[in-house]
Amino acid sequence: MIVGSSGLTSSVEKLKTIALMGAGAVVLKSIFEEQIKFEADKFMQSDNAEMKSWQEAFQGIVSKTEFYYDEALEYLTSYAKEHTLNQYLSLISDAKKAIDIPVIASINCSTQYDWQYFAKRIQEAGSDALELNVYLLPSDFEKNGDENEKVYFDIIQEVRKFVTIPVSLKIGYYFSSLAQTTLKLSETGIAGLTLFNRPYNPDIDISNLQINSSNMFSNDTEYSHTLRWVALLSGKLKCDIAASTGIHNHETVIKQLLAGADAVHLVSVFYKHHLHHFDILPEIIKGLESWMIQHNYNSISDFKGLLSRKNVHNPASYERVQFLRLFSNIE
Ligand SMILES: Cc1cc2nc3c(=O)[nH]c(=O)nc-3n(C[C@H](O)[C@H](O)[C@H](O)COP(=O)(O)O)c2cc1C
Repeated sequence: MIVGSSGLTSSVEKLKTIALMGAGAVVLKSIFEEQIKFEADKFMQSDNAEMKSWQEAFQGIVSKTEFYYDEALEYLTSYAKEHTLNQYLSLISDAKKAIDIPVIASINCSTQYDWQYFAKRIQEAGSDALELNVYLLPSDFEKNGDENEKVYFDIIQEVRKFVTIPVSLKIGYYFSSLAQTTLKLSETGIAGLTLFNRPYNPDIDISNLQINSSNMFSNDTEYSHTLRWVALLSGKLKCDIAASTGIHNHETVIKQLLAGADAVHLVSVFYKHHLHHFDILPEIIKGLESWMIQHNYNSISDFKGLLSRKNVHNPASYERVQFLRLFSNIE
């Protein structure tokens, strides 16, 4: 049971509690290249003395030419990048000293250079593994499926050139051929796939006619999509599978394991439970253990994947998408 990437894993204090409560591993909050550009902006607007002198120098350069503007901005962004990255590397090394469960760093970059550079520095800081948080919305009318999906393969290839620690890939579900693409991704040498990230979703406020965001946190019924795909892919992929989204209780943990998950990530449940308290984690572990005793299972491997598509008599239960006769009597 892994506490997934989020603000829950962004400080050593919280990581200590998470380890104490029995988590098997933690994925640190992702470091986003986008966030670094935001840091650069913040830097420009900050009003402490050191920043002020930078801003003045920057303004001096800016007023000269367009060329200088670009150079100055680039310099600033790379300063902010180094600053944010160093903070993240400290979190990794402090976490490694404070807890003895695996610490998995997570990155989301936009340039090839930074995917490589961040990955390399993260390995040097002592991270046990690295999760690549890649979520591309195939919304570009000019791009076909292959072009969109190539990005995932390129990122894995670039990162793996620079690190030897296990690399996992966390994805969304927007692929033109999810089964085949995940199979090919699993053959690139990655150690695991995390299925699925939960995207930021837009919503519409019909009173003010504005676009806003929908629920940030999942609820306990949102696991079905992940469950189906874990079951369909389990035993077929050449890497481990971690289930993510909507896992809020021991029953869902058990379901994901029966479907074939090698690990589960939990996030929203902690945000929703008593203001970030992790004390629900021992309860979930206890629930799993009681169920195992009840079913005479000594270890997870005794039942992992028992109900995956590969192992069930009626695989159609996972393949079916139309309700057909099942609900035809419901009026
Ligand atoms: C507040 C918040 C912050 C998150 N930040 C990240 C992140 O930095 N990187 C990432 O890969 N996923 C992030 N996620 C996604 C979670 O790791 C997880 O995949 C998703 O919330 C689905 O799991 P859940 O249903 O247990 O919440 C975040 C989720 C939440 C709610």
